[in-house]
Amino acid sequence: MSARPNVLAIDGPAAAGKGTLARRLAAALHLPYLDTGLLYRAVARRLLDAGADAGDPVAAEAQARALTTADLDAPNLRTPQIDRAAAAVASLPLVRAALLAFQRDFATAHGAVLDGRDIGTIIFPDARAKLFVTASVDARARRRWLELQQRGVVAAFDTVRDDMQARDAADASRAAAPLRPAPDAILIDTTALDADQAFAAAIAHLAALGWYADANENR
Ligand code: DC
Repeated sequence: MSARPNVLAIDGPAAAGKGTLARRLAAALHLPYLDTGLLYRAVARRLLDAGADAGDPVAAEAQARALTTADLDAPNLRTPQIDRAAAAVASLPLVRAALLAFQRDFATAHGAVLDGRDIGTIIFPDARAKLFVTASVDARARRRWLELQQRGVVAAFDTVRDDMQARDAADASRAAAPLRPAPDAILIDTTALDADQAFAAAIAHLAALGWYADANENR
């Protein structure tokens, strides 16, 4: 048994395939899964619903402290408006501090798979395994655009790509917990990988760490 917490940290930019991969890995490892981006989205939703500005640090911290798990099931957490408001909220150190305990508590009892931007660097620097999942901006924008289309949200591809680039820049350049790979994270570039190939790459890494012994049976 490892002394490190039974946490798999999965970080990376938007639409790199983290969520799909994290869900599959959580099922394979029999661990609970938390999409931490939803926390920032739900705080943004609460703020906008309260008529506050997404950049207002005092109002945003209050909403982050009042967040409940029920807020994560709110509808419309994945609209372009919430994309932008969540990025603003996520740049506020007081909001990040308020959400830290929520994320750590989630994994306390049984371990967990968490995906986000700072799981391997800030939330669980001692995670048992860390993946940094990325892809080219064009590949990610295309996935996001298709996803929006499937949900009936009309958006021009160029707008989706521009928004994504702006969000990448905001996530990577913010002072509070900027997006960057942990030094000990394994990089998975999904630009040319489908979901099964990305899963296989992650499983191979976990197997090499001795975490996932049944890798070959489950591919
Ligand atoms: O992964 P996502 O697009 O749902 O994330 C929404 C926003 O929250 C995005 O701007 C990045 C930010 N985020 C963050 O700063 N830290 C996390 N652990 C997860 C998301």
